[in-house]
Amino acid sequence: MKRKPFVAGNWKMHNDLGAARELMGGLRGNLPKPLNVDVAVCTPFTLLYPMGKEIDGTDIKLGAQNCHFEPKGAFTGEISAQMLAAAGCTYVIIGHSERRHVFGETGDMLRKKVVAAQECGLHVIYCIGELLEEREANRTEQVVESQLQEALSPDLRTDLLTLAYEPVWAIGTGKTATPDQAQAVHAFVRAKLSGFFGQETAQQLRIQYGGSVKPGNAKTLFECPDVDGGLVGGACLVAEDFVAIISAAQESA
Ligand code: PGA
Repeated sequence: MKRKPFVAGNWKMHNDLGAARELMGGLRGNLPKPLNVDVAVCTPFTLLYPMGKEIDGTDIKLGAQNCHFEPKGAFTGEISAQMLAAAGCTYVIIGHSERRHVFGETGDMLRKKVVAAQECGLHVIYCIGELLEEREANRTEQVVESQLQEALSPDLRTDLLTLAYEPVWAIGTGKTATPDQAQAVHAFVRAKLSGFFGQETAQQLRIQYGGSVKPGNAKTLFECPDVDGGLVGGACLVAEDFVAIISAAQESA
């Protein structure tokens, strides 16, 4: 049996308060009922409190896009996992390709972030994925395996963990991995997860696909046996599109 799908919207650095409220208004009333998909919106830090109010009483959960690994201290410009939990977050994205490749986050930092987030009760969406040149050099499996190894360990809480496979060449580019390409990497990742957590737990862990997920391609991706929903960037900024993607996940379950 497939796992319950999980669709998270990664707002990145988009939306002011007015646009965010409008977007949430368009989501709230239009989700499938009953909802058999876990749904989260990962907003910029400054929108967490007001969006927490917007989702009150709904099935939508709140997430952040990053956190620091220390609980507090002289870290100008950073936000701790504790602060996110206090702001009402259920989820936090760790290791997004933009954090790795634009902001230079290292495996060591990411491992500490995953641990810190889980210690605060946050559910981690841990992102992995290869660059185009790595795929072309047939190094995809090697890259995602090392990204798993650098941040995961058997003592992590698997009830607070989701993986997101996001090929970097597909993020924000309009190029999507084909269902076959996605399924192949997801199956590989799941096999590696059993090395960390055992086979039974690996079967229960959800692995989202991310990278130009749109209403038109969501269903065929989500129908792959090892794809358990998506991490959605651009398309989550349009309520109608995000609802359509959530509905596709619901239909694929
Ligand atoms: P995209 O972004 O859907 O715009 O490709 C996905 C992501 O970065 O998580």
